[in-house]
Amino acid sequence: MIIDQRKLPHQFIIEPLCTVDDAIAAIRDMHVRGAGLIGATAGFGMHLAAAQARPGQLADALADGGDRLDKSRPTARNLFYATTMVYEAGNISAENALTQALWIADKDTADSTAIGEYGNELIKPGFRIQTHCNAGWLAFVNFGTALSPIYKSHQSGKEIFVWVDETRPRSQGARLTAFELLSAGIDVTLICDNMAGVVMSKGKVDAVITGCDRVASNGDTANKIGTMSLSILAKYFRIPFYIAAPTPTIDMSASSGEDIPIEERAPEEMTTFRGLRVAPEGIKTFNPAFDVTPAENITAIVTEKKIVYPPFEKNLKTLFERS
Ligand code: MRU
Repeated sequence: MIIDQRKLPHQFIIEPLCTVDDAIAAIRDMHVRGAGLIGATAGFGMHLAAAQARPGQLADALADGGDRLDKSRPTARNLFYATTMVYEAGNISAENALTQALWIADKDTADSTAIGEYGNELIKPGFRIQTHCNAGWLAFVNFGTALSPIYKSHQSGKEIFVWVDETRPRSQGARLTAFELLSAGIDVTLICDNMAGVVMSKGKVDAVITGCDRVASNGDTANKIGTMSLSILAKYFRIPFYIAAPTPTIDMSASSGEDIPIEERAPEEMTTFRGLRVAPEGIKTFNPAFDVTPAENITAIVTEKKIVYPPFEKNLKTLFERS
Protein backbone atom coordinates (compact mmCIF):
# COMPACT_ATOMS: atom_id res chain seq x y z
CA MET A 1 0.00 0.00 0.00
CA ILE A 2 1.40 3.39 -0.96
CA ILE A 3 0.34 7.01 -0.63
CA ASP A 4 -0.26 8.47 -4.09
CA GLN A 5 1.92 11.56 -3.70
CA ARG A 6 0.71 13.14 -6.92
CA LYS A 7 -2.52 14.04 -5.14
CA LEU A 8 -1.01 15.68 -2.07
CA PRO A 9 -1.65 18.03 -0.33
CA HIS A 10 -5.28 18.09 -1.51
CA GLN A 11 -6.12 14.40 -1.26
CA PHE A 12 -4.59 11.63 0.85
CA ILE A 13 -5.14 8.52 -1.26
CA ILE A 14 -3.84 5.06 -0.35
CA GLU A 15 -3.21 2.90 -3.40
CA PRO A 16 -2.55 -0.85 -3.51
CA LEU A 17 0.31 -2.18 -5.67
CA CYS A 18 -0.60 -5.74 -6.70
CA THR A 19 1.99 -6.66 -9.34
CA VAL A 20 5.57 -5.81 -10.26
CA ASP A 21 4.11 -3.74 -13.13
CA ASP A 22 2.14 -1.70 -10.59
CA ALA A 23 5.37 -1.04 -8.69
CA ILE A 24 7.20 -0.02 -11.88
CA ALA A 25 4.41 2.39 -12.88
CA ALA A 26 4.21 3.83 -9.35
CA ILE A 27 7.95 4.65 -9.40
CA ARG A 28 8.08 5.83 -13.04
CA ASP A 29 4.99 8.03 -12.79
CA MET A 30 5.96 9.28 -9.35
CA HIS A 31 3.03 8.06 -7.26
CA VAL A 32 5.97 7.30 -4.98
CA ARG A 33 9.20 9.30 -5.08
CA GLY A 34 12.20 10.10 -2.92
CA ALA A 35 15.26 7.85 -2.78
CA GLY A 36 14.38 5.70 0.24
CA LEU A 37 10.77 5.15 -0.77
CA ILE A 38 11.74 4.31 -4.34
CA GLY A 39 14.11 1.67 -2.91
CA ALA A 40 11.48 0.21 -0.56
CA THR A 41 8.88 0.11 -3.34
CA ALA A 42 11.34 -1.59 -5.68
CA GLY A 43 12.06 -4.16 -2.95
CA PHE A 44 8.35 -5.02 -2.64
CA GLY A 45 8.06 -4.97 -6.45
CA MET A 46 10.71 -7.69 -6.54
CA HIS A 47 8.77 -9.64 -3.91
CA LEU A 48 5.64 -9.41 -6.11
CA ALA A 49 7.64 -10.63 -9.11
CA ALA A 50 8.83 -13.62 -7.08
CA ALA A 51 5.46 -14.38 -5.50
CA GLN A 52 3.72 -14.34 -8.90
CA ALA A 53 6.38 -16.32 -10.79
CA ARG A 54 5.21 -19.40 -12.70
CA PRO A 55 6.35 -22.71 -11.18
CA GLY A 56 10.04 -23.26 -11.88
CA GLN A 57 10.55 -19.71 -13.17
CA LEU A 58 11.50 -17.87 -10.00
CA ALA A 59 14.98 -16.86 -11.18
CA ASP A 60 13.70 -15.61 -14.57
CA ALA A 61 10.83 -13.67 -12.98
CA LEU A 62 13.24 -11.99 -10.55
CA ALA A 63 15.76 -11.17 -13.27
CA ASP A 64 13.05 -9.73 -15.52
CA GLY A 65 11.39 -7.81 -12.66
CA GLY A 66 14.77 -6.43 -11.60
CA ASP A 67 15.69 -5.33 -15.12
CA ARG A 68 12.41 -3.54 -15.60
CA LEU A 69 12.38 -1.94 -12.13
CA ASP A 70 15.95 -0.71 -12.74
CA LYS A 71 14.70 1.17 -15.81
CA SER A 72 11.86 2.93 -13.95
CA ARG A 73 14.04 5.84 -12.74
CA PRO A 74 17.82 6.20 -13.13
CA THR A 75 19.21 8.47 -10.42
CA ALA A 76 18.31 7.31 -6.88
CA ARG A 77 20.85 4.68 -5.92
CA ASN A 78 18.48 3.04 -3.39
CA LEU A 79 16.49 1.51 -6.25
CA PHE A 80 19.44 -0.51 -7.55
CA TYR A 81 20.51 -1.39 -4.01
CA ALA A 82 17.03 -2.86 -3.35
CA THR A 83 16.61 -4.79 -6.62
CA THR A 84 20.08 -6.32 -6.25
CA MET A 85 19.55 -7.35 -2.63
CA VAL A 86 16.12 -8.88 -3.23
CA TYR A 87 17.32 -10.57 -6.42
CA GLU A 88 20.08 -12.31 -4.50
CA ALA A 89 17.82 -13.37 -1.62
CA GLY A 90 14.84 -14.23 -3.83
CA ASN A 91 16.79 -16.63 -5.98
CA ILE A 92 16.63 -18.98 -3.00
CA SER A 93 12.85 -18.71 -2.48
CA ALA A 94 9.94 -16.27 -2.88
CA GLU A 95 9.62 -16.13 0.94
CA ASN A 96 13.23 -14.95 1.14
CA ALA A 97 12.40 -12.17 -1.32
CA LEU A 98 9.65 -10.94 1.01
CA THR A 99 11.90 -11.17 4.08
CA GLN A 100 14.56 -9.14 2.25
CA ALA A 101 12.05 -6.51 1.06
CA LEU A 102 10.77 -6.11 4.64
CA TRP A 103 14.36 -5.84 5.91
CA ILE A 104 15.09 -3.03 3.41
CA ALA A 105 11.96 -1.15 4.52
CA ASP A 106 12.79 -1.59 8.22
CA LYS A 107 16.41 -0.54 7.66
CA ASP A 108 15.15 2.58 5.90
CA THR A 109 13.19 3.58 9.01
CA ALA A 110 16.08 2.74 11.35
CA ASP A 111 18.51 4.74 9.18
CA SER A 112 16.19 7.75 9.10
CA THR A 113 15.88 7.63 12.90
CA ALA A 114 19.68 7.57 13.33
CA ILE A 115 20.14 10.40 10.81
CA GLY A 116 17.65 12.43 12.86
CA GLU A 117 19.74 11.91 15.98
CA TYR A 118 23.09 12.78 14.36
CA GLY A 119 21.63 15.71 12.43
CA ASN A 120 20.03 17.07 15.60
CA GLU A 121 23.56 17.64 16.96
CA LEU A 122 24.14 20.17 14.17
CA ILE A 123 21.01 22.22 14.94
CA LYS A 124 21.25 24.90 17.63
CA PRO A 125 18.18 26.35 19.35
CA GLY A 126 16.77 29.20 17.28
CA PHE A 127 18.25 27.90 14.01
CA ARG A 128 16.62 28.94 10.75
CA ILE A 129 17.07 26.02 8.38
CA GLN A 130 16.55 25.97 4.63
CA THR A 131 15.61 22.81 2.74
CA HIS A 132 14.94 21.92 -0.89
CA CYS A 133 12.55 19.35 -2.39
CA ASN A 134 11.16 16.72 -0.02
CA ALA A 135 13.29 14.39 2.05
CA GLY A 136 10.82 13.77 4.86
CA TRP A 137 8.60 10.84 5.83
CA LEU A 138 6.91 10.95 2.44
CA ALA A 139 10.21 10.31 0.67
CA PHE A 140 11.18 7.36 2.90
CA VAL A 141 9.39 4.63 4.83
CA ASN A 142 9.28 6.99 7.82
CA PHE A 143 10.88 10.21 9.20
CA GLY A 144 13.11 10.93 6.19
CA THR A 145 16.64 12.25 5.95
CA ALA A 146 16.82 16.07 5.68
CA LEU A 147 13.63 16.46 7.72
CA SER A 148 14.43 13.83 10.33
CA PRO A 149 16.88 16.10 12.26
CA ILE A 150 14.29 18.87 12.04
CA TYR A 151 11.62 16.60 13.57
CA LYS A 152 14.06 15.49 16.26
CA SER A 153 15.04 19.08 17.14
CA HIS A 154 11.39 20.11 17.28
CA GLN A 155 10.51 17.14 19.53
CA SER A 156 13.41 17.90 21.83
CA GLY A 157 11.96 21.35 22.41
CA LYS A 158 14.42 23.44 20.36
CA GLU A 159 12.78 26.44 18.77
CA ILE A 160 13.49 26.14 15.05
CA PHE A 161 12.23 27.70 11.85
CA VAL A 162 12.31 26.24 8.32
CA TRP A 163 12.46 27.91 4.90
CA VAL A 164 10.98 25.54 2.32
CA ASP A 165 11.95 26.02 -1.33
CA GLU A 166 9.01 25.49 -3.67
CA THR A 167 11.14 23.15 -5.88
CA ARG A 168 10.00 23.60 -9.43
CA PRO A 169 9.01 22.01 -11.70
CA ARG A 170 7.07 19.44 -9.62
CA SER A 171 6.81 21.53 -6.46
CA GLN A 172 7.74 18.79 -3.99
CA GLY A 173 8.68 21.54 -1.49
CA ALA A 174 5.39 23.40 -1.75
CA ARG A 175 3.19 20.33 -1.98
CA LEU A 176 4.95 17.82 0.26
CA THR A 177 7.52 19.40 2.60
CA ALA A 178 5.20 22.28 3.48
CA PHE A 179 2.45 19.73 4.15
CA GLU A 180 4.70 17.56 6.34
CA LEU A 181 6.17 20.37 8.43
CA LEU A 182 2.90 22.24 8.86
CA SER A 183 1.19 19.01 9.99
CA ALA A 184 3.98 18.55 12.56
CA GLY A 185 3.41 22.04 13.97
CA ILE A 186 6.82 23.36 12.88
CA ASP A 187 7.27 27.05 12.07
CA VAL A 188 7.70 27.00 8.28
CA THR A 189 7.68 29.54 5.45
CA LEU A 190 7.47 28.74 1.75
CA ILE A 191 9.63 30.59 -0.77
CA CYS A 192 10.06 30.23 -4.53
CA ASP A 193 13.41 28.74 -5.55
CA ASN A 194 14.66 32.08 -6.88
CA MET A 195 14.17 33.72 -3.46
CA ALA A 196 16.86 31.67 -1.73
CA GLY A 197 19.56 34.30 -2.34
CA VAL A 198 17.46 37.02 -0.78
CA VAL A 199 16.78 35.21 2.48
CA MET A 200 20.43 34.17 2.73
CA SER A 201 21.72 37.66 1.98
CA LYS A 202 19.56 39.09 4.76
CA GLY A 203 21.20 36.74 7.29
CA LYS A 204 18.02 34.74 7.75
CA VAL A 205 19.47 31.23 7.18
CA ASP A 206 21.72 29.44 9.70
CA ALA A 207 22.07 26.13 7.84
CA VAL A 208 20.89 24.33 4.72
CA ILE A 209 19.96 20.64 4.96
CA THR A 210 18.86 18.62 1.95
CA GLY A 211 18.44 14.96 1.21
CA CYS A 212 19.98 13.34 -1.83
CA ASP A 213 19.54 10.65 -4.44
CA ARG A 214 23.11 9.47 -4.95
CA VAL A 215 26.50 10.31 -3.44
CA ALA A 216 29.67 9.50 -5.38
CA SER A 217 32.76 8.21 -3.57
CA ASN A 218 34.40 11.66 -3.74
CA GLY A 219 31.37 13.31 -2.06
CA ASP A 220 29.80 14.82 -5.18
CA THR A 221 26.07 14.55 -4.56
CA ALA A 222 23.08 14.34 -6.88
CA ASN A 223 19.89 15.84 -5.51
CA LYS A 224 16.80 17.58 -6.85
CA ILE A 225 17.45 20.17 -9.53
CA GLY A 226 18.28 23.50 -7.88
CA THR A 227 20.36 22.00 -5.05
CA MET A 228 23.66 22.85 -6.75
CA SER A 229 22.65 26.53 -7.09
CA LEU A 230 21.61 26.55 -3.45
CA SER A 231 25.02 25.15 -2.45
CA ILE A 232 26.80 27.89 -4.40
CA LEU A 233 24.69 30.54 -2.67
CA ALA A 234 25.35 28.94 0.73
CA LYS A 235 29.10 28.96 0.09
CA TYR A 236 29.00 32.62 -0.99
CA PHE A 237 27.11 33.61 2.16
CA ARG A 238 29.21 31.27 4.39
CA ILE A 239 26.24 29.16 5.49
CA PRO A 240 26.87 25.49 6.37
CA PHE A 241 25.46 23.16 3.74
CA TYR A 242 24.56 19.67 4.96
CA ILE A 243 23.47 16.61 3.01
CA ALA A 244 21.57 13.83 4.80
CA ALA A 245 21.82 10.36 3.30
CA PRO A 246 21.69 6.73 4.43
CA THR A 247 24.50 4.46 3.20
CA PRO A 248 22.28 2.77 0.54
CA THR A 249 22.32 6.16 -1.23
CA ILE A 250 26.15 6.20 -1.34
CA ASP A 251 27.56 4.71 -4.52
CA MET A 252 31.21 3.88 -3.97
CA SER A 253 31.45 2.65 -7.57
CA ALA A 254 30.86 6.20 -8.83
CA SER A 255 34.15 8.02 -8.64
CA SER A 256 32.58 11.48 -9.08
CA GLY A 257 29.33 13.19 -10.02
CA GLU A 258 30.22 12.57 -13.67
CA ASP A 259 29.32 8.91 -13.10
CA ILE A 260 25.82 9.63 -11.76
CA PRO A 261 23.06 9.25 -14.36
CA ILE A 262 20.79 12.29 -14.34
CA GLU A 263 17.15 11.76 -15.27
CA GLU A 264 15.47 14.07 -17.77
CA ARG A 265 11.71 14.23 -17.47
CA ALA A 266 8.86 15.19 -19.79
CA PRO A 267 8.58 18.79 -21.09
CA GLU A 268 5.00 18.98 -19.78
CA GLU A 269 6.37 19.30 -16.25
CA MET A 270 7.59 22.73 -17.34
CA THR A 271 5.16 23.79 -20.04
CA THR A 272 2.01 23.07 -18.04
CA PHE A 273 0.95 23.71 -14.46
CA ARG A 274 -1.70 21.35 -13.07
CA GLY A 275 -2.96 20.70 -16.59
CA LEU A 276 -2.94 24.35 -17.69
CA ARG A 277 -0.49 25.28 -20.46
CA VAL A 278 1.85 28.07 -19.33
CA ALA A 279 4.40 28.12 -22.17
CA PRO A 280 3.77 28.53 -25.90
CA GLU A 281 3.22 25.45 -28.06
CA GLY A 282 6.42 24.45 -29.86
CA ILE A 283 8.85 25.80 -27.24
CA LYS A 284 12.00 23.72 -26.75
CA THR A 285 12.68 22.59 -23.17
CA PHE A 286 15.44 21.13 -21.03
CA ASN A 287 14.19 19.39 -17.88
CA PRO A 288 16.88 17.60 -15.85
CA ALA A 289 15.32 16.28 -12.63
CA PHE A 290 18.59 16.40 -10.64
CA ASP A 291 21.89 18.23 -10.49
CA VAL A 292 25.22 17.45 -8.87
CA THR A 293 26.47 19.50 -5.95
CA PRO A 294 30.29 19.44 -5.96
CA ALA A 295 31.81 17.92 -2.83
CA GLU A 296 33.70 21.16 -2.14
CA ASN A 297 30.38 22.93 -1.42
CA ILE A 298 29.28 20.37 1.19
CA THR A 299 30.08 20.99 4.86
CA ALA A 300 29.20 17.44 5.99
CA ILE A 301 27.16 14.39 5.05
CA VAL A 302 24.92 13.07 7.82
CA THR A 303 24.55 9.29 7.59
CA GLU A 304 22.99 6.67 9.88
CA LYS A 305 26.48 5.67 11.05
CA LYS A 306 28.05 9.06 11.73
CA ILE A 307 28.50 12.58 10.41
CA VAL A 308 31.10 12.48 7.63
CA TYR A 309 33.29 15.56 7.11
CA PRO A 310 35.74 16.31 4.26
CA PRO A 311 37.93 14.97 2.83
CA PHE A 312 35.03 12.81 1.62
CA GLU A 313 37.18 10.72 -0.68
CA LYS A 314 38.92 9.32 2.41
CA ASN A 315 36.17 9.56 5.02
CA LEU A 316 33.24 8.03 3.10
CA LYS A 317 35.28 4.82 2.80
CA THR A 318 35.22 4.41 6.59
CA LEU A 319 31.43 3.89 6.44
CA PHE A 320 31.94 0.62 4.60
CA GLU A 321 34.85 -0.74 6.62
CA ARG A 322 34.14 -3.71 8.85
CA SER A 323 34.54 -2.77 12.50
O1 MRU B 1 12.19 13.36 -8.17
P1 MRU B 1 12.02 12.98 -6.73
O2 MRU B 1 10.92 13.70 -6.04
O3 MRU B 1 11.98 11.49 -6.52
O4 MRU B 1 13.37 13.50 -6.15
C1 MRU B 1 13.91 12.93 -5.04
C2 MRU B 1 13.84 13.90 -3.97
O5 MRU B 1 12.85 13.97 -3.31
C3 MRU B 1 14.93 14.75 -3.71
O6 MRU B 1 15.91 14.86 -4.61
C4 MRU B 1 15.29 14.62 -2.26
O7 MRU B 1 15.84 15.79 -1.85
C5 MRU B 1 16.23 13.49 -2.00
S1 MRU B 1 15.49 11.95 -2.01
C6 MRU B 1 14.89 11.81 -0.45
